[in-house]
Amino acid sequence: MKISIFGLGYVGCVSAACLAEMGHDVIGVDINAHKVRLINEGLSPIVEEGLEELILAQRQAGRLRATTAPDLSDRDLVFICVGTPSNGNGSLHLDYVNRVCTDIGRLLRSAGHRITVVLRSTVLPGVAEEMAIPALEAASGMHAGSDFGFALNPEFLREGSSVHDFYHPPKTVIGVFDQESADLLSALYSSLPAPLFQLAPGEASMIKYADNAFHAVKVAFANEIGRMCKNFQVDSRVVMNVFTQDTKLNISPLYLKPGFAFGGSCLPKDLRALTHRARQDDVAIPMLNSALESNEEHLQHALRLVKACGRKRIGVLGLSFKHGTDDLRESPVVALVEELVGKGYEVRIYDRNVSMARLMGANKEYIEREVPHIAKLMCSSMEELLARSEVVVIGNNGQEHERVLGDLRNGHKIIDLSGLKNGRHTHIKEVNYEGICW
Ligand SMILES: NC(=O)c1ccc[n+]([C@@H]2O[C@H](COP(=O)([O-])OP(=O)(O)OC[C@H]3O[C@@H](n4cnc5c(N)ncnc54)[C@H](O)[C@@H]3O)[C@@H](O)[C@H]2O)c1
Repeated sequence: MKISIFGLGYVGCVSAACLAEMGHDVIGVDINAHKVRLINEGLSPIVEEGLEELILAQRQAGRLRATTAPDLSDRDLVFICVGTPSNGNGSLHLDYVNRVCTDIGRLLRSAGHRITVVLRSTVLPGVAEEMAIPALEAASGMHAGSDFGFALNPEFLREGSSVHDFYHPPKTVIGVFDQESADLLSALYSSLPAPLFQLAPGEASMIKYADNAFHAVKVAFANEIGRMCKNFQVDSRVVMNVFTQDTKLNISPLYLKPGFAFGGSCLPKDLRALTHRARQDDVAIPMLNSALESNEEHLQHALRLVKACGRKRIGVLGLSFKHGTDDLRESPVVALVEELVGKGYEVRIYDRNVSMARLMGANKEYIEREVPHIAKLMCSSMEELLARSEVVVIGNNGQEHERVLGDLRNGHKIIDLSGLKNGRHTHIKEVNYEGICW
């Protein structure tokens, strides 16, 4: 393909050289004449392993050049790789994106054929629709989708190993606006050994932020565990080495599903013990401290969703902190029920496991001693619960709760804390359904 890349920073330079190596005809564009000159001399404007050799080889092969005065008349694809730094208050600085979209828009007008513009810079959901596309359309007098193509294509390379990462990406993500552009991009990457995802634009943008937020959280987590280990004169390198070898519970998709707050007999208790000891010993571990605060905020978020329904009779399906257990210790659903009862809601609960535990289980005594007021709200069947409630809160993902979603047709409002609704529940109207994180 004939490709132009606007912005020759880390992402733009690596993309330009690697795409040229893949056999495409690439023109790099930058407002910085020095960077353009360096590339044309076969030199790299940035320090990056393997890049200079690649740029020189592609210059010599005639597949790569750079300019400050672009022309799109023979181009198929245009990548935007300009910077999106922070403003002083932390907000996203979008002047470079706005400016480059205006520049490209003017060039689109005179190109005389359909070109696909790909926004590769990291931008928050909504920026493409609210800023980039309008700027392109205003400058070109053309329409995205019909007159020119548009797609998002966030980049996941790491500085220091970005050439290797370009050819071995963890994934390829395309934010789809028009299918033709998404398919063109998919074809461009078809030889790369990575799963490719064509997603809604907001999802594509958000994946990049989820990735980087998670990486930051991981580093902060390892360092806080490290500080606590040092405090106990324990070698954190040994601890985290074994920690990361647990690919069932630790480095795995578990505990990474958006849903309701954490609870149960271990997580809150153990986090409290660790953070309490840190306070005693003057070890600052703000992120671990804030996990409990974040969890409490999530509970309040669920409460606000229930309140927003504006109805009084609330049915709660699933009381234990996860399905398949009758353990109610520190269940966030119990905390939610207590808040609702305290605010005067008429709450009814159905949880098959807890009902059985009340009759005979090991938790009978706990229920009677710790949550007798809640035990009184238990219904003996799902049918009874539905008959006595206007809003159904799905507290955990018990399989029988999914059946309820399948059967519900009578206008119950559903607050789903567990993500049970799936493609089969098409009969549930959007207006009657609210997920906690979706
Ligand atoms: N650096 C990384 O490792 C990395 C990784 C993934 C994603 N990203 C994202 O990719 C984007 C680019 O990052 P970067 O580090 O390569 O940026 P950078 O700041 O290193 O380079 C941006 C380049 O764009 C040029 N530029 C600005 N306005 C222009 C215009 N109107 N026309 C042509 N060129 C213009 C600048 O002169 C500069 O050379 C950012 O959104 C960043 O968040 C960066």
